[in-house]
Amino acid sequence: MRARSQAEPKAACRDTLWEQMTLSFVTSGQSHGPGIVAILSGLPAGIHVDRDRLQRDLARRQAGYGRSPRQSIETDEATILGGMRHGRTIGGPVSLIVENRDHANWGAAQSAWAVTEEELAEVAARRTRTVVVPRPGHADLSGVMKYELPDVRDVLERASARETSARVAVGAMCKDLLDAIGISVHGHVVRVGSVATAPNAALTAKDFDVLSDRQVGCIDADTDAKMVAEIEQAKKDQDTLGGIIEVRAFGCPPGLGSYASEELRLDARIAGAALSIQAMKAVEIGEGWENATLRGSKVHDELHYDNGYRRETNRAGGLEGGMTNGEPVIVRIAMKPLPTLMKPLKTATLDTHEPAEALVERSDTTAIWAAAVVAEAVIAFELARAAKEKFGGDAIGDLVAAHQHYLSRIPWSPAAP
Ligand SMILES: Cc1cc2nc3c(=O)[nH]c(=O)nc-3n(C[C@H](O)[C@H](O)[C@H](O)COP(=O)(O)O)c2cc1C
Repeated sequence: MRARSQAEPKAACRDTLWEQMTLSFVTSGQSHGPGIVAILSGLPAGIHVDRDRLQRDLARRQAGYGRSPRQSIETDEATILGGMRHGRTIGGPVSLIVENRDHANWGAAQSAWAVTEEELAEVAARRTRTVVVPRPGHADLSGVMKYELPDVRDVLERASARETSARVAVGAMCKDLLDAIGISVHGHVVRVGSVATAPNAALTAKDFDVLSDRQVGCIDADTDAKMVAEIEQAKKDQDTLGGIIEVRAFGCPPGLGSYASEELRLDARIAGAALSIQAMKAVEIGEGWENATLRGSKVHDELHYDNGYRRETNRAGGLEGGMTNGEPVIVRIAMKPLPTLMKPLKTATLDTHEPAEALVERSDTTAIWAAAVVAEAVIAFELARAAKEKFGGDAIGDLVAAHQHYLSRIPWSPAAP
């Protein structure tokens, strides 16, 4: 957290203005409420929003081998409530809602307002019972304590990763901004449980096209099939799996983010965004973990000049000094195994404190491919935010012109897209 200066009101005022100038978003809503809402502020006017991609990204978040039957109830769609007209942004905050179709099956049990016993009686018992058996690994126990809530359901409804549907919609719009300056962002799965794909430093944006034919989001078809088998076995064992996802961003010019203050360091922002996704527990930028075991002479990417600066290698993952360095940005994120188990772990009840079995509820065996799609979205947001800060612009044309001017000024030789 940034320490407040003594001139408190001034600082607060700066924050509010800053939030309007930069990109920012907020989400609201619960897993089985009417829907998940997002408000995204700061998008320049004139961005053509790719409706098909928005829809495709929402569908990709729901896909992937190992998801629960919930995904067949929901067919996510973003309804735009404000900030756009005729397919393009108009400068005001964009607001949207992704409706929860499952809400209709919960009725009074998810009403925002007080309900009568009769109204509740019409809802299935499973949906109305108070949950008092917190799950290890979930937000349940600390959540009820912190907010003084009587029912674990009050916690899990918001802690649930259903919230990420709105973040994916926000990310899709940020990709539209990034398209305008030639940046693309791609996620894939590199490990599920014990099955991993061989690292490939030379991936290009084109290599990600095959993912529409994969079941788990792994570029290599044989490894993807092995991942399916790993998930199948975990499901039979009534267990869950985590894994590792990787996001690569191509086309970033040098200098997005800044070393000038800790809040502007793009590596920190990306790591924070990655860990803000439910169940993500570690982040690696470039060859971060291996680099820590090697000497500097084997780690740092040597420079050469050929019509502009390039690096021979990309062990830094495209980020140095809190800024992009012009090489592809490479981020790997570790996801823990999901905490809701069909063979429940031990817990103690909230009312009697007696030993009990944790809540069993419809749940994914793994959501690793969905997590890669969410990670793409949050990293697209961070890159779009850094681009807006660097190039400014109330209209997208202004932002593009500033970007072009910058490219004409710097001696940079971009990698092949
Ligand atoms: C796309 C996605 C889907 C998820 N689905 C489930 C699920 O079905 N069951 C579950 O127990 N956790 C699921 N999680 C993880 C939990 O939401 C998460 O573990 C929980 O909120 C506790 O937060 P933490 O793991 O970040 O500490 C999912 C996470 C993501 C990103």
